[in-house]
Amino acid sequence: MTPVAEATELYRFYHKGDEETVALRGVYLTLKRGELVGLMGPSGSGKSTLLACLAGLDDPDGGRVTICGEIMSRQAQRAQSLLRRRHIGILLQHGNLLEHLSVADNLRLQQDLAGKGDVAARHAILERLRLDHRSGSLPSQLSGGEVARAGLAVALANAPVLLICDEPTAEVDAQTEADIIQMLKEQAQNGAAVLIATHSDAVATEADRIVRLRDGRVVS
Ligand SMILES: Nc1ncnc2c1ncn2[C@@H]1O[C@H](COP(=O)(O)OP(=O)(O)OP(=O)(O)O)[C@@H](O)[C@H]1O
Ligand SMILES: [Mg+2]
Repeated sequence: MTPVAEATELYRFYHKGDEETVALRGVYLTLKRGELVGLMGPSGSGKSTLLACLAGLDDPDGGRVTICGEIMSRQAQRAQSLLRRRHIGILLQHGNLLEHLSVADNLRLQQDLAGKGDVAARHAILERLRLDHRSGSLPSQLSGGEVARAGLAVALANAPVLLICDEPTAEVDAQTEADIIQMLKEQAQNGAAVLIATHSDAVATEADRIVRLRDGRVVS
């Protein structure tokens, strides 16, 4: 079966003046349906850079990313955006919600952009994340744990086959972390590939496997 995501020999260089940072040095990664993969490694090892390249939010300087068999890396932004909407959900530590839209409207916007999902799907996600009573609230009216769960709801709104999560539980309480991990596990059990950059042992113990980065290389 075609992998959900495949990174082949990715390189990413950053330049500032004479200084060169090599954020990725020949990274290979294959993600298959149904697996929950933890991406770990010290600060600065390249985790967020790798996630951004997989999501088509950044382009590698060398190598290639494919998503469900289609080339993502170094394509026109419109093509990248279409591929992202169709297949990918993104969950970041912050900034998952538009502040001027209610929780339900944040989900609806994602569904509309993706051309997928309906009111029943929206309700199911909100109910599953215990947010049904908050669907009309603005993000500023939510508790920290609710904001985190609503961010996950938005990431799930287009029913993605690939979920890319960058430290999704770094700033939440233990209960919210457990909720988020459980929901991500369910997505994998339902056939998605889930990749989570994390420093959290709670996330790591739930992962099917761990990919470790060090200095831009996969070390295990
Ligand atoms: N936009 C940028 N411009 C210049 N250097 C960058 C940029 N983004 C990342 N880097 C550098 O690339 C390297 C990898 O950064 P990255 O953010 O991918 O690490 P990380 O593993 O996600 O770290 P953390 O655990 O702290 O989030 C670091 O040395 C970082 O300073
Ligand atoms: Mg990071």
